[in-house]
Amino acid sequence: MTATTDRGTLLILNGPNLNLLGTREPGIYGSSSLADVEELATAAAARHGFAARCVQSNHEGVLLDAIHAARGTAVGIVINAGAYTHTSVALADALSGVALPAVEVHISNVHKREGFRHHSYLSPVVDAVIVGAGIHGYELAVDQLAHLLPQPS
Ligand code: DQA
Repeated sequence: MTATTDRGTLLILNGPNLNLLGTREPGIYGSSSLADVEELATAAAARHGFAARCVQSNHEGVLLDAIHAARGTAVGIVINAGAYTHTSVALADALSGVALPAVEVHISNVHKREGFRHHSYLSPVVDAVIVGAGIHGYELAVDQLAHLLPQPS
């Protein structure tokens, strides 16, 4: 089957340590790898007629550059900023700056965990937040972007 991608491209952005998925604290993050996550999100995007561009970086500046590059090249953003969620005013400013529909994802339920994970700098500037749904959260995030973005005519 050839999926059409005429609704544009979604940026699927993963931050620090998410490259370790599958081996990192599997009791919290599960056994799926980053490649599994990217495949899942790409398939969900394709079902809705979007292409997906997947980027992972452990460096805040690279994540900022990817968000900036999304302006004009992508129509929406799914972001799991990892620990930068709880520290980065710069990522919040970048998301506000590009003004694209965006959904924040956390694999674990951050609200059941340490207090420092309960605050997100990103939540006030995104359209929706999905926490604790495991890697299925990426699929839910893509579904929500598909709902927010203009339907094909
Ligand atoms: C995470 C939650 C963050 O608190 C943590 O620093 C991560 C992963 C999650 O997907 O559950 O790296 O964003």
